[in-house]
Amino acid sequence: MWEYISEHPSMTQTVGRALAPLLQPGDVVSLSGHLGAGKTLLVKAVAAGLGIDPGEVTSPTFSFIHEYASSPPLYHFDVYRLQSPDQLEDLGYEEYFYGNGITLVEWGDVVASYLPPEHLAIELVKLDEHRRELVFSGSEDVCRRLIRPLKEALDH
Ligand SMILES: Nc1ncnc2c1ncn2[C@@H]1O[C@H](COP(=O)(O)OP(=O)(O)OP(=O)(O)O)[C@@H](O)[C@H]1O
Ligand SMILES: [Mg+2]
Repeated sequence: MWEYISEHPSMTQTVGRALAPLLQPGDVVSLSGHLGAGKTLLVKAVAAGLGIDPGEVTSPTFSFIHEYASSPPLYHFDVYRLQSPDQLEDLGYEEYFYGNGITLVEWGDVVASYLPPEHLAIELVKLDEHRRELVFSGSEDVCRRLIRPLKEALDH
């Protein structure tokens, strides 16, 4: 587990841009945190890091999934308005979570039982108007592949 304090939206954007090149096809990132914590802002920054115009990225609040043709493709889920977690099955979630793209899931904690065990979890905690605590956790492999390299990239 690693905790990072973001003092400003631009710091959260820096995290997303630094994370993007570390992500591999098949990686799943779960984003949790209250309304306005910064989940979509972080997704936009990862998207920008993958070469997607962040202005094109909007939260799939009603459609649940947006797909972007980056390389690898980006699948952006927002499951806040799911009736229940098992509605994910109707959306064909396996093709995304176990596919060859990168999947980012806003409110991933709501569908925790459907997430692959190897996912990266990022919890965003609102400290005050401009400050957020970002808590990164995952398996030993996720720590080695994603969390430690991210920390190193941000330390520089
Ligand atoms: N340090 C920070 N990191 C991220 N966002 C911040 C920070 N400080 C302020 N903000 C602001 O918080 C808001 C985060 O909005 P965003 O839509 O990303 O939240 P969200 O977690 O996706 O919310 P929702 O649950 O409604 O989808 C933005 O207006 C952003 O400018
Ligand atoms: Mg959002």
